[in-house]
Amino acid sequence: MLTDKFGRNINYLRLAIVDRCNLRCTYCMPENGLTWIKQNELMTDEEMLRICSVFTEMGVNKIRITGGEPFVRKNSIELIRNISQLDGLTDISITTNGLLTEPYIPQLKKYGIKSINLSLDTLDKKRFFKITRRNSLDKVMKTLDSLLQHDIKVKINTVVMEGENTEDIIPLVMLTKDLPVDVRFIEEMPFNGSKTDISLKWNFTQIYNYIKEFFPEIQKADDPKSSTSYNYKIPGFKGDIGIIAAYTRSFCGDCNRIRITPSGILRTCLYEGTGVNLKDEIRMGRSNEELKNIIINSVHKKPKDGWEAQKSSLTASQIHQSMATIGG
Ligand code: 5AD
Ligand code: SF4
Repeated sequence: MLTDKFGRNINYLRLAIVDRCNLRCTYCMPENGLTWIKQNELMTDEEMLRICSVFTEMGVNKIRITGGEPFVRKNSIELIRNISQLDGLTDISITTNGLLTEPYIPQLKKYGIKSINLSLDTLDKKRFFKITRRNSLDKVMKTLDSLLQHDIKVKINTVVMEGENTEDIIPLVMLTKDLPVDVRFIEEMPFNGSKTDISLKWNFTQIYNYIKEFFPEIQKADDPKSSTSYNYKIPGFKGDIGIIAAYTRSFCGDCNRIRITPSGILRTCLYEGTGVNLKDEIRMGRSNEELKNIIINSVHKKPKDGWEAQKSSLTASQIHQSMATIGG
């Protein structure tokens, strides 16, 4: 079992398989994209598989594939299949923007993917374009449809932004009335790949109070252990509502997560500046036992919470990192 110095069990790995993306969400990256990771710095499929396998041997039983947009990676579906076949995994899931996802859904179903997080900040075409700088709402909605048809659990991720998509909060809640989807409203975080700071207006409380005004009957629902979302239910609705206090970080206490970036950096906290590069260690010829020791040492130093981690997180140029390079 992988444990940190606060006694938290680490059983959940979030693996970002690529930093590139086919959208340009304003809260994630600048219009021109990012300085993408060079091909030789990107982990190969073999390296990713080896790292996942080492982690499963250490007690990780849940892996989420993220990016960037995972399906932008070449042969991502093969990689996903190989990861899904690792011994010891009980839960494998994917976070995707839904643009390229639809054709892969029957395969994902076959590989045992039970849950997909779909990024969707608005149900309105114009606002979709303004937020993502691309015109692809139709594709995302088709993906949503097909996921439901294939009986794959869907959680919609919505970053709530003043002046951008607050009109969508209630329509998104209404989606959960007839569809078995959960919608999770996320506080915006400063990971936008630019120098722009954010001033958070739509925090947890603001989002909750806004929904409660429209739906006074809203009730608390169960929060699974180590869940980042506080969950609610509107009686009679098929799906749940969640609010993720990603900025205010009130859920760090029982964190069970670590991240691997597309270039192989082990980040023991989302808000941490950097970490040990496991790909470099592999390329230096480390054995699995040596990798495990490196991982144990890093995880032991996992910061208490996102506030402590943030103290080291801005780069010298004061540019905020992007969720796409950290792993969403
Ligand atoms: N703040 C909050 N959430 C973000 N995401 C990406 N960037 C940010 C940010 N700056 C979330 C999106 C997406 C997932 C990959 O990460 O909701 O669903
Ligand atoms: Fe792409 Fe997701 Fe970043 Fe949007 S938030 S640009 S979909 S990686």
